[in-house]
Amino acid sequence: MSAVSSRLPVFPWDKLEPYKRTALAHPDGIVDLSVGTPVDPVPALIQEALVAAADSPGYPTVWGTPELRDALTGWCERRLGAVGFAHGNVLPVVGSKELVAWLPTQLGLGAGDKVAYPRLAYPTYEVGARLCGAEPVVYDDPTELDPAGLKLLWLNSPSNPTGRVLPKEELVRIVAWAREHGVLLLSDECYLELGWEADPVSVLHPD
Ligand SMILES: Cc1ncc(COP(=O)(O)O)c(C=O)c1O
Repeated sequence: MSAVSSRLPVFPWDKLEPYKRTALAHPDGIVDLSVGTPVDPVPALIQEALVAAADSPGYPTVWGTPELRDALTGWCERRLGAVGFAHGNVLPVVGSKELVAWLPTQLGLGAGDKVAYPRLAYPTYEVGARLCGAEPVVYDDPTELDPAGLKLLWLNSPSNPTGRVLPKEELVRIVAWAREHGVLLLSDECYLELGWEADPVSVLHPD
């Protein structure tokens, strides 16, 4: 077993297996929410765009085409209310899971650094901290964390798995705290467009 794999937690789906077996024994069976795999049909528009672009031999650039970057900055301005977004502010990734897992390593974090994330959270924040050898720290309120050695602070609103949406005032308070203590704040907003009773707001919004 390598040093890295020994640092990693048991995969949550494996951890859930015994509980699944118990639930399956129940007369009404199981409501299995453990893997959030999309089940809806892929919209025709997306299928057609994929087919139309299929004959594109060659390697794509990491930074994407100027048209893609325009689409990204445009969405950030229109949907998130971000102001003055330029191509240098966006980067396409192969999936946010890969980014979440590797960003602490790519930023040069390691032993002696801390990475904090919500107590009940998407498991990859912990994996990312452990991959680079940093110490994973959970929080209920991030502003109660000890900022010593804390290099990265993950927010996730709307939250997986709780669905909690951080109101604007809360974001303002946390951003101010992170700035005061020189902590890099990473806001995972992948469910931002899925507000139900609340209207989720981005940390990129100038307010
Ligand atoms: C909070 C959160 N962040 C990131 C991801 C990763 O999403 P993807 O790799 O599909 O972009 C997920 C997926 O479940 C998630 O729940």
